[in-house]
Amino acid sequence: MNQRRDAILREMGLAPLWRLRGAGQVEVEPAPAEILPEPAPVVLESAPVRESAPRPARPDLRESLQQAAAPAVPAQAMQRSDTGEAVSGLDWDTLEARIRGCDACGLCKRRKQAVPGVGDRQADWLFVGEGPGAEEDERGEPFVGQAGRLLDAMLARIDLKRGEDVYIANAVKCRPPNNRTPEAAELAACFPYLQRQIALIRPRLIVALGRPAAQALLNEEVRIAASRGKLFSHNDIPVVVTYHPAYLLRNLQDKAKAWEDLCFARRTMVGLKAS
Ligand code: URA
Repeated sequence: MNQRRDAILREMGLAPLWRLRGAGQVEVEPAPAEILPEPAPVVLESAPVRESAPRPARPDLRESLQQAAAPAVPAQAMQRSDTGEAVSGLDWDTLEARIRGCDACGLCKRRKQAVPGVGDRQADWLFVGEGPGAEEDERGEPFVGQAGRLLDAMLARIDLKRGEDVYIANAVKCRPPNNRTPEAAELAACFPYLQRQIALIRPRLIVALGRPAAQALLNEEVRIAASRGKLFSHNDIPVVVTYHPAYLLRNLQDKAKAWEDLCFARRTMVGLKAS
């Protein structure tokens, strides 16, 4: 199975290969050069305009975004927490200190440390994952485990690099026990932190990695399969939805779709920069 998996990953050129190096360490083999043809371009109805600095949201941006017809999440499930007001004006250092000391939900009880986020604080690209896993909890940086290696390889495939015009954050900043999916109340309690990060970064484009991230950002029930290839918006910032790297490690058949999604995101960014 591992051989088959390696072969598929190699063929797709999307994911790194994982080799045990002893002591459970993994080594990433760089993705080979373009093997998989890019999917046909997705034509945006109209490219939203962004200004360089400051970057005000265009008033008509929402109209140019396709909104998925998804049923709303029950109000009590995604109710925004009142941490919001408390963090809405914070600068980076204070925000990160607040995240590190947060006890707004039960996840604080079992964390080793909170994981605020990492990267370029003026990035055009913001990638939002679900929540820290064991390695992230240990090291205090998002996506440093196996899923993170895959995310780095995915970024490389669209000429991006962690920390360079890219910021990586999570929907919840503390590790859910046993890496379970964060609950709606936990997502809601943590959301103001993500919202403040977005307000400070003002990315041109957000990529939601997996369902919890998408639901937190869009405040609605999301099915990834039905939402791919569409542009959503969070506070007038375009949002692209794709599969979570950890899911992709378990579901090889969806890797090509993730690659399409990244190409879609890249084309969207090109359009955003050109307009
Ligand atoms: N998965 C996530 O969603 N985030 C991380 O930081 C690590 C794994």
